[in-house]
Amino acid sequence: MTWLITGGAGYIGAHVARAMVAAGERVVVLDDRSSGIVDRLPEAVTLVEGSAGDRELLDRVLGEHAVSGVVHLAAKKQVGESVEKPLLYYRENIAGLTVLLEAVVAAGVRRFLFSSSAAVYGVPDVDLIAEETPCLPINPYGETKLAGEWLVRATGRAHGISTACLRYFNVAGSAGPELADTGVFNIVPMVFDRLTRGEAPRIFGDDYPTPDGTCIRDYIHVADLADAHLAVARKLGVREGGDLTLNVGRGEGVSVRKLIDVIREVSGHPVEPVVEPRRAGDAAKAVASDARMVRELGWTARRDVRSMVESAWEGWCLRHPEARADARK
Ligand SMILES: NC(=O)c1ccc[n+]([C@@H]2O[C@H](COP(=O)([O-])OP(=O)(O)OC[C@H]3O[C@@H](n4cnc5c(N)ncnc54)[C@H](O)[C@@H]3O)[C@@H](O)[C@H]2O)c1
Repeated sequence: MTWLITGGAGYIGAHVARAMVAAGERVVVLDDRSSGIVDRLPEAVTLVEGSAGDRELLDRVLGEHAVSGVVHLAAKKQVGESVEKPLLYYRENIAGLTVLLEAVVAAGVRRFLFSSSAAVYGVPDVDLIAEETPCLPINPYGETKLAGEWLVRATGRAHGISTACLRYFNVAGSAGPELADTGVFNIVPMVFDRLTRGEAPRIFGDDYPTPDGTCIRDYIHVADLADAHLAVARKLGVREGGDLTLNVGRGEGVSVRKLIDVIREVSGHPVEPVVEPRRAGDAAKAVASDARMVRELGWTARRDVRSMVESAWEGWCLRHPEARADARK
C-alpha cells in the first residue's frame, strides 16, 4: 500500500514515516516545512513540499502515487496561540482538512487516519478518560481537533472510507536524537530548557487533590505512538468502512513532580523545582483508559517514562551541547 503522510517531516510524522517504511509500506510525505525538518525522513520516503490544503497539488499527488491511505498529521498545535489566533487555527485545521477530504473522496482513497488529541476532552473530572467521556474542549485548538473528528467520521460514513481518529495524550521521547521534538511547548523540553539556562524547573500548583499535590498526566513515547499508527493502518487496511476513535496513552499517570525528578536524574542537573501558582485550564489528572485500544487492536505501549526522558535528553543535547551537566563544570 502507499500511504500519504501530511506533516510527515514533523516530530510525530517523521516517527510514523520511519515506522511505516520499516514495516515495508510505501510512504509519500506532504509537508509545507512550516515546522518540519526534512532531514528527519528516511531515504525511502518520497517528499513533496507544499500545503495539505492545496487541492490541485493533492489531486496530483494522490493520483501520481496511487495513494491508498492518508495519515493526516499536518496541523497547528499550540494551545496558547490558538486562543490568540482562532481564525488561523480554524482555517488550517478545519478548512484545510475539508479540502484534503474533498481530494480524498475524489481520488477514491479508502483509508484515512486523523491525528486528534486528548485536548478534545477538556478537563474532565474522572479517574480514567475513556473515549465515551464527554468531549468539552476548553480552547480553539481542542475545538478544531473535535470538529476535525466530526468531519472525518461524517465523510467516512458518507463515502465508504474507513477512518480512525487517534487521541494522543502527552507525547515525549524520540527514536533517535535527530528525530527529537525541537519545540519547547511540551513539559519535557520545557524543563530541559530551564535546566540548560541554569534556572529551576517550574511546577504550576502543588495543591491539587493528587498524592504529591502536582498534576498527573499520561505520557506516551513517540516510538510507541508511531507503532500504534502502524497497527491502526493495518486494521484500516483489512476493513471496509467503519470508524475507530481511540485514545493513545499508557493508561498510567505520572505526576509533574515525579517527571521532573526523573529529568533531574537523567540530565544530571540537581536544581530543585520551584512551585508557582496554578495555571488556568490545567486538570488535576488526565490519564487515558487504553481499554479500547487493547480490545480493538491488542496493542499496548511498551516504553516507560524513563526511556522517554533519556531519549529526549539525547536529542536535546545534540542541539544544545552546553546542556550536559559535565560541560558546565
Ligand atoms: N506533539 C504532541 O504532543 C501532540 C499531542 C496531541 C496531538 N498532536 C497532533 O499531532 C500532529 C503532529 O504534531 P507534531 O508534534 O509532530 O507537530 P510538528 O509541528 O512537529 O509537525 C507538524 C508538521 O506539519 C507540517 N505542516 C503544518 N501545516 C501544514 C500544512 N498546511 N501543509 C503541509 N504541512 C503542514 C509542519 O511543517 C510539520 O512538519 C498535529 O496534528 C498535532 O495537533 C500532537
